[in-house]
Amino acid sequence: MSELSRSRSVTPEMAIALESETQSLKQRAAAKGLFFGAAARHRDLLSSQSLANSYIRECSVLVPEWELKWAAGDLPLRPNPDRFDFTRSDEMLRFARANGLSLRGHALVWHLSNPRWLRETLNPSNAEQLLTSHIRTVAAHFAGQIHSWDVVNEAIEVPDGRSDGLRNSLWLESLGEAYIDLAFRLTAQVDSRALRVYNDYGLQYATSSHESKRKAALKLMERLVASGTPVQAFGIQSHLRAGETRFDAERLRRFLKDLADLGLKILITELDVSDQNVPANPSVRDRLVADAYREYLDVVLDEPAVIGVVTWGLSDRHTWLSGDKPREDGLPVRPLPLDENLERKPAWWAIAQAFDNAPLR
Ligand code: XIL
Repeated sequence: MSELSRSRSVTPEMAIALESETQSLKQRAAAKGLFFGAAARHRDLLSSQSLANSYIRECSVLVPEWELKWAAGDLPLRPNPDRFDFTRSDEMLRFARANGLSLRGHALVWHLSNPRWLRETLNPSNAEQLLTSHIRTVAAHFAGQIHSWDVVNEAIEVPDGRSDGLRNSLWLESLGEAYIDLAFRLTAQVDSRALRVYNDYGLQYATSSHESKRKAALKLMERLVASGTPVQAFGIQSHLRAGETRFDAERLRRFLKDLADLGLKILITELDVSDQNVPANPSVRDRLVADAYREYLDVVLDEPAVIGVVTWGLSDRHTWLSGDKPREDGLPVRPLPLDENLERKPAWWAIAQAFDNAPLR
């Protein structure tokens, strides 16, 4: 750091700016052998050149927030049992390729965002064929063009009461826990180049529910690895809360190391910081949100098995938290690195600093 940036009158944010104001998040991440990316919806990204420019500047990975789920958005991928509509996902792939971004696939198997016809017809006699045809068709369509797939998303739900902690989802009820192994084996057969990720949430805090979910996640990963199921990485969604005090760095470090000791890479896949329960003042909120990013990333980026960070959205203009975790006072939420005008917030600087401080991979 230069003499000027060490002087007391310069804030950390200004110091970073003075040092290398042109360095974007993707550049800072790449300088340490990491990647940075963000999720986006087709309808937002491809309707605003300024928003698209922000993704192009800041991200090396793009995640379709809706378009690779079975049924989300205006032209769902699976409108009926016999059809696959790649219109929206192909448009997002074209955008990514034209602008030097990699496309991250989310998600081949999930208990949500499924079409009504699947929810109403899936049963033990047709489940294997439906899962097989979906993965073989979708993963083949993008084969060689996907950075990583969330092959199975959110399969763990300890409160469902199973001894293995798995969620009683439509897939588990139809196929048993073997649906997880089948999904990974099919994906490996069809696209061996995409990193195969198991993705889940509720794993980062020092709470009893997160602790029990970490235990169930490790048990599942140990079983998959021991049985030769080709899972390669664990995606920690990382939907954080500003002002959350139940954060134990050592417990989180241990969880990350336990995953790494299984030979798994780790991705931070849906990072955002809800400001639902902190004071209304935007400056206070922005600082608390930035603190949460910093506190979390300083720990996770210390783990060499962590290969990259994806935020769930890039600008406060478009965040699922507006609907999922709105503020009681009705003020627009501010969970992401850029504000609604695409300006960099303290959260952006916190992420930037975490990459700058991260050990080189
Ligand atoms: C969310 C999207 O952001 C919303 O727009 C949609 O209505 C519901 O799904 N975990 C996940 C993501 O894995 O797929 C979810 O995305 C957020 C929680």
